[in-house]
Amino acid sequence: MKKQKTLKFPKDFLWGTSTSAYQIEGEIINDWSEWENKRVKSKKFKVRKLKEEDYVCGQACDSYHRYEEDFYLAKSLNTNAIRFGIEWARVESKKGKFDEKEIEHYRKVIESAKKRGFKIVLTLWHWTNPLWLAEEGGWTNKKIIEYYSRYVKKIVEEFGSDIDYWVTLNEPMVHISNGYLTGKFPPNKKCFFKARKVFNNLVRAHKEAYKIIHENKKNAQVSITQLTNYFEPAHKWCLIEKSLTKLFNYFWNLRFLNKIKNHLDFVGVDYYFHDRVVWYPPFKKNLNKITTDMGWEIFPEGIYHVLKLLSRYKKPIIVLENGLADKEDKFRADFIRKHIYNVYRAIEEGVDVKGYFYWSLLDNFEWAEGWYPKFGLFEVDRETKERKIRPSAKVYSEICQSNKLNI
Ligand code: FCB
Repeated sequence: MKKQKTLKFPKDFLWGTSTSAYQIEGEIINDWSEWENKRVKSKKFKVRKLKEEDYVCGQACDSYHRYEEDFYLAKSLNTNAIRFGIEWARVESKKGKFDEKEIEHYRKVIESAKKRGFKIVLTLWHWTNPLWLAEEGGWTNKKIIEYYSRYVKKIVEEFGSDIDYWVTLNEPMVHISNGYLTGKFPPNKKCFFKARKVFNNLVRAHKEAYKIIHENKKNAQVSITQLTNYFEPAHKWCLIEKSLTKLFNYFWNLRFLNKIKNHLDFVGVDYYFHDRVVWYPPFKKNLNKITTDMGWEIFPEGIYHVLKLLSRYKKPIIVLENGLADKEDKFRADFIRKHIYNVYRAIEEGVDVKGYFYWSLLDNFEWAEGWYPKFGLFEVDRETKERKIRPSAKVYSEICQSNKLNI
């Protein structure tokens, strides 16, 4: 019989869960909600065996009213950190006018998380924009730097002292590619020149936000989250595949970070994808031995490789998202254990990983895919909003409590 091994994580390791404002709060009006409404009304839109309301965020998980309960649930998992977001469209629904009622709401949310002893990771922008901004061209407009800075300044003045880690931008490359190249996400454009503009504006906006946050607090911890894929050539001997792998790795994983590397206190990483690169279109052929409900391949050792990759920035790294859609909870416990094991491997080899956050605390609105993907450690009843723990959450909870993984 194999002997059991206990892997101990560093002291003060952050164990957390991640959410975003739009996906859980409910009743938000922004560029996404507009698009969802138009989309379901359009004749072109085909729903896959679901109902139209399954593609509208609507009330979401009603976390706007249930945040106390959500923090209680997160605490019940023995997590010591939590990532959530502020919805720009809520606090500045009218251009240049901050809604003090909504600021007070977020003050209560932040106080409630603090009261429970959580380290707070706050996301300032998670893909969604106020309507007035979308009408002015969103992130293609160069005025965005001024608008975004004004918003960041307000949030920092209000909450600066309570936030432990800041995420200025969530996965900028996903907004650029899905919003401006493939057209899958609002504003549904397919225009390389626009994509390039948005890239540059996101870089500049991050740098400005970085300065604003640091003016408020010198030792603030600021980053973005970077969706980092593990690219590898399908055949190690194939020069074309090797070159393509390098190219994809550079453009998708590294280029944005290279531009902002002097304005980063840590690196926030999201890991979901392994891409086995082949030389012929569509240049990706995964073996897909096990896949999630969304058809995403489960490939835990990829997280080890992306952590090694990002160690080049010589900054602490925090895994701010990693998770899977698994309604029946068949794979989640194993998924969590295996990914955490691979995080441990990277730490053992000297990578300064400071934390791991599971995506997500709750089943929530999964963007263009709507309500069918279930990422939650807690199920959420769409009608009653009742939360119910999934068995795998207990496995995660034990790891968080003991700061150890038994293998
Ligand atoms: C990430 C997003 C997050 C969630 C997960 C599944 O790319 O940041 O909001 O949708 O994927």
